[in-house]
Formats: sequence, C-alpha cells, structure tokens
Amino acid sequence: TIRQIQAVEILDSRGNPTVAVRVGLEDGTEAWARVPSGASTGAHEAVEVRDGGRRYGGKGVLNVIRHVNDVIAPVLLGQAAHHQDGIDQQLLELDGTQQKSRLGANALLGVSMAVMHAAAASFQQPLYRYLGGVQARTLPVPLLNVLNGGAHADNNVDIQEFMIVPAGAGTFSEAMQMASETYHALKGLLKERGLRTAVGDEGGFAPDLNGDREALDLLVEAIQRAGLRPGEDVALALDVAANELYHQGSYRLGDETKSADALIAWYQELIKAYPIVSLEDGLSEDDWDGWKHLNQALGQQIQLVGDDLFVTNPSRIQRGLDEDVANAVLIKLNQIGTVSETLEAMRMTARRGWRAVVSHRSGETEDTTIADLTVATNSGQIKTGAPARSERVAKYNRLLMIEAQDTGLEFAGWEAFRR
Ligand code: PGA
Ligand code: ZN
Repeated sequence: TIRQIQAVEILDSRGNPTVAVRVGLEDGTEAWARVPSGASTGAHEAVEVRDGGRRYGGKGVLNVIRHVNDVIAPVLLGQAAHHQDGIDQQLLELDGTQQKSRLGANALLGVSMAVMHAAAASFQQPLYRYLGGVQARTLPVPLLNVLNGGAHADNNVDIQEFMIVPAGAGTFSEAMQMASETYHALKGLLKERGLRTAVGDEGGFAPDLNGDREALDLLVEAIQRAGLRPGEDVALALDVAANELYHQGSYRLGDETKSADALIAWYQELIKAYPIVSLEDGLSEDDWDGWKHLNQALGQQIQLVGDDLFVTNPSRIQRGLDEDVANAVLIKLNQIGTVSETLEAMRMTARRGWRAVVSHRSGETEDTTIADLTVATNSGQIKTGAPARSERVAKYNRLLMIEAQDTGLEFAGWEAFRR
C-alpha cells in the first residue's frame, strides 16, 4: 500500500532539470524513478511540462513537482502499488488531456515508474522478474550510437545516428566487449586522421566528415580493426531522424532535395553496400504514404523502426499496423507517459510479430528502468547510446549485472532480427 509519494527536481545528463519520484509503501519498502528528456522530439509525443520564466532558462520543473506532490499523491495514497493498470488509469484521468499537457507526461511517468519499482521491491523481486514473470528470458542485442550527423552534429552527414549492432556475439557481455572494442578502434581511426574525438549527448563521436558514406566506411573499418567481421559479428543500424530533413513535402540532404521515393532508392543503395540491419525514422512523422512505400520496398530486407512516427502511442501504432507501414517500433516510456500504455504498445506490436526496440532519450539520468523493461518483455533489442558516458553505460551495466545474477536468461543474438 502506498504511504508516501514525493517528487524532487534533479538534473539530467545535459544539466537540465528533470523529475525524480520516490514512492514509499506501508511495509517499509521504497523506490525512486527518474524521468528522461528528448531533444529531437516528435510532434505527437506526450507533453513534457516545464516552468518557463528565467529559472534554469525556463526549463525548471517545479510546477511538475507540485503536480505530483499536491495533485497526484493525495489521490494515490492508500492504494495497492501492484495495481499498475489502475494507478495509471487514475493518472490519465487526473490529467484529463489528450497529450498529458495539464499535469505533464514528466509528472505522470515519474509516478508510474516509481510505483512499479516500489511494488517490485515489495515483492522482493528484481524489476524485470516482477514485470515479466517466468516468461522473462531474453537479454537484448544492444544498438550503440557511436557516430553522429544530422541535427546532432555540425558536419556534412545527413543521418543522425550510426549504430553498431554486435548481434553475432554469443552472450550479452561478449556483445558489450565487441561494442567497446569497436568504439575504441573507431576513436583510434579518427585520431589518426586528425578528426575530432569529443563525444555528443549520447556518447557518440561527431567528427567533421564529408558525407554519409564516409561515416559508414569508417564504421566498417573500425569493426575490422577490432578484429571482428562486419555483418557477421557486428552489423550496422541507422536512425535517420528524417523529420529533421523534411521540408514541405520533400527531404533535404546536403544541397539536394529528394522525394520520399528517391530517398527510399538511396536507402536501397546503402543497404546493398553496407551491412545495415535496421533503419529508424527513414521518413518523416506524418508521411504515412511514404512509409507505406518504404515498407513495400525494404520491409523484407531490413528492420524498419518507427520512432517519431509512432511515439510509443497505441493509437498511432494501431494505424501503422492497419496500414502496414513498418515492421518495428521504438519504445520510449516518456513519449507516452505511463508504464501501462508502454506495455500495451509492446503487446500490440508483438502480437503482429513486429519488433520493439526499447530506447533511452538523448537527455538521460542514472535510471536503469529500460534495461529491466527490455528483459521483462523479451524485446530482444535495446538502444541506449555509446559504450561511454555513465548515464548510457548505467543501462548496459544493469544488463551485465542481470546476466551475471540470472544464468537462465539467453542473449537474443541474430534471432532478435528474424521476422
Ligand atoms: P531524442 O533523440 O531522445 O533527442 O528524441 C533520439 C532519437 O531520435 O531516437
Ligand atoms: Zn529516433
């Protein structure tokens, strides 16, 4: 039974305020959860409420803290923490808006996650086991963002994120070793060429490159230099974040303007030339027709992931399933704002055989909820940045510890990409 709910303003990995929530139960257990924050957010995401004004450049969350402490807490005190669906339903009703703009998705998610953590602690179970029960059995393949372009860097690269995918490893820990060794090989290559090795928000490099193919060539070379086989040990994944390229019906790459179909043809060439297994946000968030063509053209060859397109929203995912526009969804808890809706989004996609990639945000904290979520749901894939920067590594480390303590779990490997 919930005895106390307390929200606090803390800082995220960019030094901006975010929300932490503590839930204490009658039996003496308590737990914290911390809310992440995106930068290239989709227009259809649940709303993150901020204070405005001068404090923290307008990014303060004191109003959100008050919403938790004064509006949400009084209603939930005395209720059973393991009734996640009921708790989340009340959060939705208390907010009462379509996009959670009254109390804020950051208020709702902090409470929703902290209640879940407290319930797991009360049952003396690790979160993944509490959430997934005996069915939780899979450690994910990590998708690690190691090189950046687009809005995340000022170079001539259009694609926002280049990820390495060590699916050929035998275990999760071996996958992390492959990833780290490739990351360091990449750093060595950049240094030799006099390119910048400072890292961005997600721990990836953002060197001054001459285009997308140069970035892809560098990654293949880094994999080889680490003594690994591109496409067999370590594959590649891209997040184009095409919203950022989209202007009035077409897509701008460098000085060129391309139609959706021309962009799809370009992806086709890249897929032929490089070991790419996953393509996220290849087209913009409202280009449903373009997405349909994309899926017809490439859906049999690679994983097509909707991030800004679906925003973890069950009703947008339903439209995607009906119109057959992709074959995978990116899952970000704070895009939708409650644990229950996130789990519903994952169930819907799993029923159709679509893949789910559980994801961090570019603004993160030391919270590791997503590591447990991916194991609990057997999603088979997690995207949580480079193998560097503690707010990224915290999730990978949580998975390494889960692997060590629960020898019954299996690494997803290439199976995670089979459809
Ligand atoms: P965000 O970016 O967390 O800044 O939205 C990551 C992504 O586009 O996947
Ligand atoms: Zn994305």
